[in-house]
Amino acid sequence: MTNLTRNSTRSFSDKQVNLDTLKSIISEAQQAPSWENSQPYHVFLATGDTAAKIRAAHEKNVNNKTKSWTEVVPPQTWTPAADANILDWQYQASNHPESKEFGGLNTTLFNAPAIVYITIKKDASNYVAYDAGAFGYGMLLAAQNHGLGAMPAYGFVRYPEEIHEYFEIPEDEAIFMGIGLGYASEDEINQFRPGRNDLDKILQIKG
Ligand SMILES: Cc1cc2nc3c(=O)[nH]c(=O)nc-3n(C[C@H](O)[C@H](O)[C@H](O)COP(=O)(O)O)c2cc1C
Repeated sequence: MTNLTRNSTRSFSDKQVNLDTLKSIISEAQQAPSWENSQPYHVFLATGDTAAKIRAAHEKNVNNKTKSWTEVVPPQTWTPAADANILDWQYQASNHPESKEFGGLNTTLFNAPAIVYITIKKDASNYVAYDAGAFGYGMLLAAQNHGLGAMPAYGFVRYPEEIHEYFEIPEDEAIFMGIGLGYASEDEINQFRPGRNDLDKILQIKG
């Protein structure tokens, strides 16, 4: 599935998404490849009132400056090239006409009417992260095929207690990633399309 038009949706409308549509999106993402078809992840889906309560708790946590943490440790260092990409992204984001909205939208979890949490085993190998990442990207593409926007964000998982309040997540699993799903609002921020590296920056070919 080649796709050059997907981008992150940082502002969702209030419109709820039909449960069957959400289940189709997750089920289509299950076509992602994984190590010997291990499919080494679980999915927890918050919708309706539960998603609203999670968004409210999150907003409170951010506004109270509650210390955040994640069950999977984020990268502590980056390569110089990745660092440069991040700086470039920050520059583009801060120069976007709606840049002032970034913080607020992260605080309100982008008003996502549905939130998908992907868990993996706490002691998972990096290959499991590959599989879960492919699954997550599959969900972003499936959402777009259904006319929905999607938002993969660290923000969804940085207060794990918000999620444990509603889901019984097995003790040996870590909340790895959160993806917001819903209909994109008309907000200009949803047009933000950061570019990508020139291909020759990441590719070495020998003929
Ligand atoms: C693991 C991960 C965490 C992310 N966390 C955030 C976040 O907390 N806030 C945010 O605004 N964007 C977040 N993003 C979105 C990225 O900024 C975005 O995917 C990237 O800039 C490329 O833009 P695009 O998705 O619009 O193509 C995250 C993406 C990934 C894959």
